[in-house]
Amino acid sequence: MLDKAQDLAADQVFLDLEDAVAPSAKPAARKNIVAALSTGDWGPRIRTVRVNDLTTPWTYRDVIDVVEGAGAHLDCIMLPKVQSATQVAWLDLTLRQLEQTLGLPVGGIGIEAQIENAAGLVNVDAIAAASPRVETIIFGPADFMASLNMKSLVVGALHPDYPGDPFHYILMRILMAARMHDRQAIDGPYLQIRDVAGFRAVAARSAALGYDGKWVLHPGQIEAANEVYAPAQEDYDRAELILDAYEYYTSEAGGQRGAAMLGDEMIDEASRKMALVVAAKGRAAGLARTTRFTPDQVPDQG
Ligand code: GLV
Ligand code: MG
Repeated sequence: MLDKAQDLAADQVFLDLEDAVAPSAKPAARKNIVAALSTGDWGPRIRTVRVNDLTTPWTYRDVIDVVEGAGAHLDCIMLPKVQSATQVAWLDLTLRQLEQTLGLPVGGIGIEAQIENAAGLVNVDAIAAASPRVETIIFGPADFMASLNMKSLVVGALHPDYPGDPFHYILMRILMAARMHDRQAIDGPYLQIRDVAGFRAVAARSAALGYDGKWVLHPGQIEAANEVYAPAQEDYDRAELILDAYEYYTSEAGGQRGAAMLGDEMIDEASRKMALVVAAKGRAAGLARTTRFTPDQVPDQG
């Protein structure tokens, strides 16, 4: 399985020591992970290990074994069920000592914090700010649903008895903290791995809010994830057009205008900012433009 993961079209791979590993199998899993990180060819993928949460007795041994064994081949540690900034501070200091002792760049290993219960969500701002190592805030819907006593077993899905999206507040709260502190916001798993349409529907909601991506649990979910979090071709083309048009109209040749018409749409500095986001997502997804901006072709330039 660890070999197979090395060829997938995913931006990141995380190797699990937490919920996917039985308690008695944890020591062997640590060894397997160290071997997979040290000898595997992970290409440009971000290499992350999820350790056990800090209410268990396993976290310190997870971190020490993985970083001592393969710290030079590791990009991030994922800390699940984070409840406070203090827990992030513990990981930050532990990593610092390991990096110093092992001669690794201090601060080189990042932290991904999973928000999976009420305490984590209430403290999410402090958690996001707790260390410069925090790169990503992740919503853990399965544990979150359990911790809230939610009356559903389908992770992330809408509920027939609730007239809205039961996850909206949680997703938005995490997104606010992530954006405030310039972290990535990542949506968690969808467990019905054969239901790709269901995966798409849940992913589309967090993508629409601004989330940067979502976990996949199976290769069959990867294509859908890559499509959902990238802009549609039409939106990407439009974003690039807005950027070109705005640059032209604010230039001397374009009349140094702060606001101008692009077709039927008025564009200004705020339009440019929105277009920058969509264009950046499209470029990162490898989309190519299919249109070019030419001032003369644009009707009604205002
Ligand atoms: C992921 O860890 C989840 O609990 O959803
Ligand atoms: Mg979880």
